[in-house]
Amino acid sequence: MISTLLSRMHGTDGDRTPRLLYGADYNPEQWPRSVWQDDVRLMREAGVNVVSVGIFSWASLQPAPDAWDFGWLDEVMDLLHEGGVGVDLATATASPPPWLTTAHPEILPVTSTGETLWPGARQHWRPTSPVFRRHALRLVRELAARYAGHPALVAWHVNNELGCHNVYDYSDDAARAFRDWLRARYGTLEALNHAWGTAFWSQRYTEWEQILPPRLAASHPNPTQQLDFKRFSSDALKDHLRAEREILREITPDVPVTTNFMVMGGTKGMDYPDWAAEIDFVSNDHYVRPGPQDRDELSFSANLTSGISAGRPWFLMEHSTSAVNWQPVNVAKRPGDLARDSLLHVAHGADAVCFFQWRQSAAGAEKYHSAMVPHAGEDSDLFRAVRDLGATLKALAPLAGSEREAAPVGILYDWQSWWASEQDSHPTSLLDYRQEALDWYSAFLALGVRADLVTRHGDLNRHQVLVAPVLHVVPADLAEALTRYTDQGGHLVTTYFSGIVDENDHVWLGGYPGALRDLLGIRIEEFGPLVAGDEVTLDGPATGTLWTDRITVTAPDTEVLAHYRSGTYRGRPAVTRRPTGGGSATYVSTRLGTRGLTSLLPRLLEPAGVRSDLPAEARGLVETTVRRGPDARFRFLVNRTDDTVTVPGLTGDALLGTLAADGTLTLAPRAVAVLRQPLA
Ligand code: GAL
Repeated sequence: MISTLLSRMHGTDGDRTPRLLYGADYNPEQWPRSVWQDDVRLMREAGVNVVSVGIFSWASLQPAPDAWDFGWLDEVMDLLHEGGVGVDLATATASPPPWLTTAHPEILPVTSTGETLWPGARQHWRPTSPVFRRHALRLVRELAARYAGHPALVAWHVNNELGCHNVYDYSDDAARAFRDWLRARYGTLEALNHAWGTAFWSQRYTEWEQILPPRLAASHPNPTQQLDFKRFSSDALKDHLRAEREILREITPDVPVTTNFMVMGGTKGMDYPDWAAEIDFVSNDHYVRPGPQDRDELSFSANLTSGISAGRPWFLMEHSTSAVNWQPVNVAKRPGDLARDSLLHVAHGADAVCFFQWRQSAAGAEKYHSAMVPHAGEDSDLFRAVRDLGATLKALAPLAGSEREAAPVGILYDWQSWWASEQDSHPTSLLDYRQEALDWYSAFLALGVRADLVTRHGDLNRHQVLVAPVLHVVPADLAEALTRYTDQGGHLVTTYFSGIVDENDHVWLGGYPGALRDLLGIRIEEFGPLVAGDEVTLDGPATGTLWTDRITVTAPDTEVLAHYRSGTYRGRPAVTRRPTGGGSATYVSTRLGTRGLTSLLPRLLEPAGVRSDLPAEARGLVETTVRRGPDARFRFLVNRTDDTVTVPGLTGDALLGTLAADGTLTLAPRAVAVLRQPLA
C-alpha cells in the first residue's frame, strides 16, 4: 500500500500530516558535486519531497566485477535526507555496464530476425538470462544491505520500466524458458498440440525441444504460439521483478517495493493487472503524445492505472514538465499544461506527482527532454511553474490516501483481448484495441458521465453499465460472469469481434459471437470488415467504419436499436439490445468513433438510469472525478478546454479554485478545481 510509503515519509522530516508526494528521477551522477547542494536547495524551494535515485547507476556503483563505489550515493542520500527529501531508491539494474556485456555478450537480447541488440543504449538484457539475473541480484543485495537503515529510504524502485525495450527476446535463453513455461501451462505435449491447433499446417510437436519462440517465419506463425509467447514474455519480466523483490523483502521487510509501469499509448507487452499483486503499490509513467485525443488519452491512462491499482492511490513516477525527446517532433507544453496534466493524474488517484527528470541533462540521448530544472536554470517560466505546482500539491494534502469512488459505468480493458484481437491473419489488420476503448472513453467524457476503466481482476458488479469493447477472448467462466452480471441487473454493452475465441484462441463455433450469442440474442454467420475509407450509414446521423456484421436476431425479445442504411447489410440490424433478468445486453456491430458513440450512448444508458452528474452547460467541457476519503469526498473539476467555463450548482469547500457563494465555479482555461464535500 502507498500508505506504508507515506508513513515512511514521516521519518524524513518528522512531519506526520498527510501529504502528496512531489519530485522526479534524480541523476546526480551526471553532475559534479558542486551542483548537488544547489539541487537540494531548489528541491526545497519547489516543494519536492521525494526523488528516485540510482535508476541508471550500475556502472557508477559497480565499476568492475569486484569493485564497489557507494561513496557518492552515501553522500547524495545524506544530502537529500538533510533536505527533507525521501528517496525511492532504484535497484540500478536497468542498464548493464560495458564490463558486464563485454564479459557476457550472451546476456544481450535477440530479435525475431536473429539480430543482437548491442550495448550502447540501455535495457540490453534478456529477461531470461541466468547470467544477467545472477549479476543483477548481486547488485540488489549489495544495495539493499548498504541502505537498509538509511533514514532517507522510503521505497524501493525495482529496475525501471521493465520491458520498455526488451519485452520480446527470441534468444536461445528465451527458447529454453519458453519451453519450461509451456510445460508448466500444459503439462503434456498432447495438451499443447491441442491448444496450439498444430494439426494445422503440419505443426505437430513430438519433443519439447522442437518448440521455439515465434521467430521470423515463412508465413504467419501459429496464433496460439504467438499469444502464448506474449503471455510468457510478460511472465518472464514479472519473474525478474519477483526475484529482485524477494531480496528486498528479505533484507528490508518494512520498505515498500514498487516498479514503474507504462500504462500509456504505445505500450502493450506487459500484463500489468497481473503484475499489480507483486508490488506494494502501483506506479506509472505517462507521456502525452500530441494529437486530437491527447488529454483524453492521459485521463484514460490515469484511470486505467487506478483500475489496475483496484481504486487505491498510486504513484505517478514519471511524466514530463514539457517536451520529450523521442517523438518525431517534440512539442513543448503550453502554459497551464504542466499543472493540468499533473492534476488530472491526481484526479484519477495519483498520490505522487513525479517527473522525468529533476535536472535536464547536458549530455546524452535525453539532453533535449524537459525536466524540472531546465537548461535555462531556475530563472525560467518552467521552474516557476514547477514551484507553483509544488504549492498546489501542498494545498491538496488533505486528499492524500483517498480512493476512487466507483463510477456508474465501467469500461472493461482486457489484456488478453488486446493481445489476441490485434494478431495477424485476422479479418482486418486495421483494428486498434486501445483506440476502440479510448473512443468509448472519449464519448463518456463528451457526455460528462463518469466511467472507470476496469480489468478482469476487478469487481465488475460495482457498475450499473459495463462496456466491453472488442472483448475478443471470452473463456467460459467470463461468459458466465457476464451472464450473471446482466441477470443481476447489470447492463452490458459489447461490440464487434467480441466473444469470438476461448483462452486458446479457438473459435467458439455455431455462429458468432459464440461465447455471448445467447446472452445477446443474435447470431452472425460472417464478418463484414470494411476497407480503409469505406463507411456505412446507420439509422440516425451515425456512420460506421472498420467493421460490419451480418446479424440475425435469434431471441424474440431482442430489439433492434439501429439498422444499416447502406452497404452490404443494408436493412439488417446494426445495434441490438436484449433485456435480461433486470439488466440488458447490447451489441454494437460497427465502429462509430467518438462522435457516433456520443450520440448513441444516451439511449444505451437510459435503461440503466445513468446520467451525467454535471450541470448541462458543463458537460463535455469539464471532466469530473471523485476520490473518497474516510470523512469526505473530493470532487475534481478539470477544464478540458482552452476557454473559461462556468459550472453552476456545486457544493463543498474549495481546496483548489474559488467557489462563489451561490455555488458557481469559474474555471480558467485548462484550470482544475477540487471541492471537498464532507460525508454525513
Ligand atoms: C522513460 C524512462 C526514463 C526516460 C523517459 C523519457 O521511458 O523510464 O528513463 O527515458 O522515458 O521520456
